[in-house]
Amino acid sequence: MTSANKSSQILCVVGARPNFMKIAPIMRALNSSALGLSVRLLHTGQHYDAAMKKSFFDQLNIPEPDIDLGVGSGSHAVQTADIMKRFEPVLDKMQPDAVLVVGDVNSTIACALVAVKKSIPVIHVEAGLRSGDRGMPEEINRILTDQISDLLFTTEETAEPNLTREGISAKRIHFAGNVMIDTLLFNLDRCIPAAKTLEELCGSQVNLSKGYGLVTLHRPSNVDDPEVLERLINVLSQVSKDIPLIFPVHPRTQQKIAEAGLQSLISNSQFYCLPPLGYLEMLGMMKDARLVLTDSGGIQEETTALGIPCITLRESTERPITVEQGTNTIVGSDPEKILASVSSILGGGGKSGRVPDLWDGKAAERIAQVISTWVKTLS
Ligand code: UD1
Repeated sequence: MTSANKSSQILCVVGARPNFMKIAPIMRALNSSALGLSVRLLHTGQHYDAAMKKSFFDQLNIPEPDIDLGVGSGSHAVQTADIMKRFEPVLDKMQPDAVLVVGDVNSTIACALVAVKKSIPVIHVEAGLRSGDRGMPEEINRILTDQISDLLFTTEETAEPNLTREGISAKRIHFAGNVMIDTLLFNLDRCIPAAKTLEELCGSQVNLSKGYGLVTLHRPSNVDDPEVLERLINVLSQVSKDIPLIFPVHPRTQQKIAEAGLQSLISNSQFYCLPPLGYLEMLGMMKDARLVLTDSGGIQEETTALGIPCITLRESTERPITVEQGTNTIVGSDPEKILASVSSILGGGGKSGRVPDLWDGKAAERIAQVISTWVKTLS
């Protein structure tokens, strides 16, 4: 409950790697002394390894979380339920004026659901994105989180009609821009050049004279089915004969490659598998790449902001602006389409695109302004 002599308290939640990039500028903006807010950070512990968590907090100067729920990995049900069970007593104790969640991971929906049932208003940053594919766990998280949010911030103009179609009042929706791109622009000058990262991780044998492609792969739809994974790894191995490929391997993918016995396919001399990279290393890798092949959501946006051609190894995207205005092409997992798209880019046919509206580095400031006014209206 807000009173005249107590500053309003916003509890920000993070859980997984892409959340960290989004929360960094939000924490900075909310903490601006001019707004007079009290800001706390809670980490659910969904991502916990040094490479998946600590390096991001360090590089992005995110304050250490006030609370770490330490949930770790599990099935969707176990992970979501554990977060909810551990979050409830924290909320009871803290009684924040609002809970702010970002993105579409299990931590997002779990904490939003606990808060709304305790009548604590929920703020969702990156609302309204829809792939139309309910087989994606993130799509379910997006739809449900938006339904129970009081204040919704969108990154692109297609998001608002998605929300109003689902019955969400336009009054609650604010087109603020993209906080992921705030972080990218804020850190661009500090990014670590690809050559340096490669030398450190692979020694001097990497020949980048023809440039390189960057690969990321971690979606369940691509890595959980051994047949699909083998098809993708095979086609990437083929691409690596034309251009060296750098592949920072997500722990989930590492595990699936090992289970499917596919290590031999990624051990050719131009296919460089690396551990997951820190933010500044990854930004340097993207910025210097000739092309990026990915199934990530955030990387579709980051490559659009950087003007680097992106081939998305999925059947759909929840970020259509990256295709309509940016550098993104959706190809799915069909080897012929992937090879045709790579050869078009290497032949000079990649999209140059343009940077979408409000991807200008100031999204978090706009969000903080709206929140500081809105929170005073809560009673
Ligand atoms: C999660 C998000 C996904 C996001 C991705 C970014 C959901 C539903 N999915 O997927 O939207 O794009 O994060 O990385 O929330 N693991 C480790 N160390 C860690 C964390 C995970 O080794 O610090 C391994 C564990 O074996 C775990 C697996 O990775 O089971 C998957 O982790 P999880 O958080 O369940 O999902 P992600 O695939 O990372």
